[in-house]
Amino acid sequence: MVEQMGRAFQSRTGYYRKAMEEYELDWRSKPQPYKFYPYAQVISLPNPTQALEAGTVTDLWTCIAQRRSVRSFGTAPLTTDQLSRLLWASAGTTSSFSTPTGQGFYRAAPSAGALYPIETYVVVNRVEDLEPGLYHYRVTGLDILERPMVEGSHALEQLKAGDLSKEIMQAALDQPMCAKAGVVFVWSAVFARSVWKYRDRAYRYVYLDAGHMAAGLSLAAVGLDLGSCPVAAFYDDETNALLGIDGQEEGVLYMTAVGKPARPFAGKGRVDLRHTSRPKE
Ligand SMILES: Cc1cc2nc3c(=O)[nH]c(=O)nc-3n(C[C@H](O)[C@H](O)[C@H](O)COP(=O)(O)O)c2cc1C
Repeated sequence: MVEQMGRAFQSRTGYYRKAMEEYELDWRSKPQPYKFYPYAQVISLPNPTQALEAGTVTDLWTCIAQRRSVRSFGTAPLTTDQLSRLLWASAGTTSSFSTPTGQGFYRAAPSAGALYPIETYVVVNRVEDLEPGLYHYRVTGLDILERPMVEGSHALEQLKAGDLSKEIMQAALDQPMCAKAGVVFVWSAVFARSVWKYRDRAYRYVYLDAGHMAAGLSLAAVGLDLGSCPVAAFYDDETNALLGIDGQEEGVLYMTAVGKPARPFAGKGRVDLRHTSRPKE
């Protein structure tokens, strides 16, 4: 039964040369690719690109070679600077473009049709100078005419205060790493943003978008001497409830736990790009 559902999804969301339907996009009904919590406390984040300007980044090849899923985290907190860079590397804006409905922003990760259906939430367990709790990443601010603007962007909106480490662990099929991580990134899709253009096929694309964001995050974590592990094993209803989303209009897709590795990587600094191996955590 389950297998049939998966097969039906794959086949019914396929493109077939002889059965391509033509339809016009209605730009007036294009959803905005931003979500705001207007009553939340907004916490600005440090400039994430300072390290790039200062030239203190780990080179890409080393990050790729050293990335491994890390599931054992120590008790040391992340810094807000690290959190800021992780958010930017996975979901931040990098340049702007024009659309028939106004200015848009390209982001660090690619997105089908530049529709950016993915929202980023972070469950903060241990981050310096940041109260534990649930936060939503504000990608950009909007001006009075609801046009996106740079000011007010790259900030956190505080949704819940308090220790949520147990809740996020339980939601993630009781995986202890989610309680031990300094922070757990949780990605949801606002399906309508992508459905506007791609209709049922959008349900394929949102997962791909989230995967790109997770990939950026995992490489950025290595560059910051942090460990990370993707998590797709979670109870959808419990995770949606934790985020305060309905699972229909907006639903959880994916997570990543990030923290200071409990054990340093023995191969650090001795990367052999022909063959790299790293013990499993
Ligand atoms: C879509 C996806 C879902 C995953 N979900 C989990 C998970 O729920 N729990 C977990 O411990 N690891 C999870 N992983 C991590 C994989 O187990 C890991 O990537 C794999 O063993 C390869 O190891 P590596 O990441 O160190 O290269 C997931 C990875 C992916 C790509």
